[in-house]
Amino acid sequence: MKRIAIFGSGGGSNARCILEYFADNPEVEVSLVVSNKATAGIFNHALDFNVPTILLHRKAFYETESLLDELSDKKIDLIVLAGFLWLIPKYLVRDYPDRIINIHPALLPKYGGKGMYGMNVHRAVKNAQETESGITIHTIDEVYDRGKILYQEAVNLDESETPEQISAKVLEVEHDNFARVVAEYLS
Ligand code: GAR
Repeated sequence: MKRIAIFGSGGGSNARCILEYFADNPEVEVSLVVSNKATAGIFNHALDFNVPTILLHRKAFYETESLLDELSDKKIDLIVLAGFLWLIPKYLVRDYPDRIINIHPALLPKYGGKGMYGMNVHRAVKNAQETESGITIHTIDEVYDRGKILYQEAVNLDESETPEQISAKVLEVEHDNFARVVAEYLS
């Protein structure tokens, strides 16, 4: 049995897709959902699937390594970042080398780095009048949006599309691919 922890800061639509994808899988279990935001929608999805949750506090997350005990209690093999907006501290990268996967709503290395998340990315793509955007699924290290690229898929953009429309288009591709790429990486 392989065990996943999903980390997210927001609505958690990708987390929900992953929870659904592995719900009846005898070999892979989502064993933990972690967020830095008490009101994050991701906690509701965890509840629907009976998955335990952890609410992170900034000071403990960055100044202690107590989260490692909780991850090891649950025998977590892989951490999946699904819209998680805090920088991953060095101790997590050290204890989970090549075992932290992130999804980014653009074609890295373009539109990555500090401050580039969610709608900020889609607005920047729109402002640059890009004719395509897409998704990147990659392993992470202690620098934002760096690491080994596992999967990318582009979407064509029409010049009339708004950042909100670009976001919806990109999110759909995320939903179609993230869980599958996680499954392939685990196997
Ligand atoms: C997703 O589009 C994800 O790619 C993005 O946040 C959104 C989360 O949506 N992540 C980043 O921008 C990280 N740099 P969700 O909470 O509905 O899954």
